[in-house]
Amino acid sequence: MFRNFLSVKDVTNMELLVQQAMSYKAQQLKRPTLGAGKKIGLLFFNPSMRTRLSTQIAASNLGMESIVYNIDKEGWKMEFEDGAIMNGDAVEHIKDAAPVLGQYFDILGIRTFPGLTDREADYQETLLHHFKKHTGIPVVSLESATVHPLQSLADILTIEEQLKLRSTGKKPKVVLTWAPHIKPLPQCVANSFSEWVNAWGKSDFVITHPPGFELDTAFTNGAQITTNQEEALADADFVYVKNWSSFENYGQMATGDTSDWMLTLDKLKATHDAKVMHCLPVRRNVELSDEVLDSPYSLVSQQAGNRVWAAQAVLSNMLENIL
Ligand code: CP
Repeated sequence: MFRNFLSVKDVTNMELLVQQAMSYKAQQLKRPTLGAGKKIGLLFFNPSMRTRLSTQIAASNLGMESIVYNIDKEGWKMEFEDGAIMNGDAVEHIKDAAPVLGQYFDILGIRTFPGLTDREADYQETLLHHFKKHTGIPVVSLESATVHPLQSLADILTIEEQLKLRSTGKKPKVVLTWAPHIKPLPQCVANSFSEWVNAWGKSDFVITHPPGFELDTAFTNGAQITTNQEEALADADFVYVKNWSSFENYGQMATGDTSDWMLTLDKLKATHDAKVMHCLPVRRNVELSDEVLDSPYSLVSQQAGNRVWAAQAVLSNMLENIL
């Protein structure tokens, strides 16, 4: 049981959490009344398909009502600065809005991407922590400035499922590879995947990226890191593909032609018939080629499907904690 779910640090027993997610996958209506009479508010400061729908389905499977609030489009512009003189375009302060949400809901889910201009503010998770402080109710991250824990739990679940099917008796090699993109993206998914795989501890974990795209070591410590993608992919069992912008040169994307970092079927030949993962949405033929995404090596749909069971396991732990 845990009160909040903001990162892997909230999870005391990952093995149990993954087992719970698997048991919901086997029997989705296992606990249909656990959330009866309870409401989750899902606040989106940014777009979503998978996170929004999988969390709503998970809540529904537990008998819990979910209400989506696209606060970026439908809400009042919010002020976050303590002591702000609110004579600008912000209409209400988080100190006033968040407690109201705490009155309406039993759990609050929040999606808030980083601005990618102020590294310190992003990495302090200012907005998420303001909500946590002022709502007075448990908070679940729907992807924040630095991590995406619901995605990462689904990723570990997906890998565990595959390992049951192809047990070789040796530790799997899991590779996180940087991929090209047309615009600067957050480091969240890569950070989160890294810290979850490190905490999981059942793989040889390798991260590969071009020079200048090192992630924060707070997330990657324990992984082997190389700028040689070919070397990283050798004998890989799982290849997780993701773009991220620079942490060091904060928020900057790669300059020059990086198209040779795209994962292709040809590159997979060096692997151990590796399964390919991506959190989606994916830019076809930029990050990953059509031939990989449309091949039996791709796990991306299964991974997205597993978002439901990950969310259901997390919500049931949070509900048990407040019942
Ligand atoms: N992977 C993921 O979080 O997808 P959405 O942005 O569609 O929620």
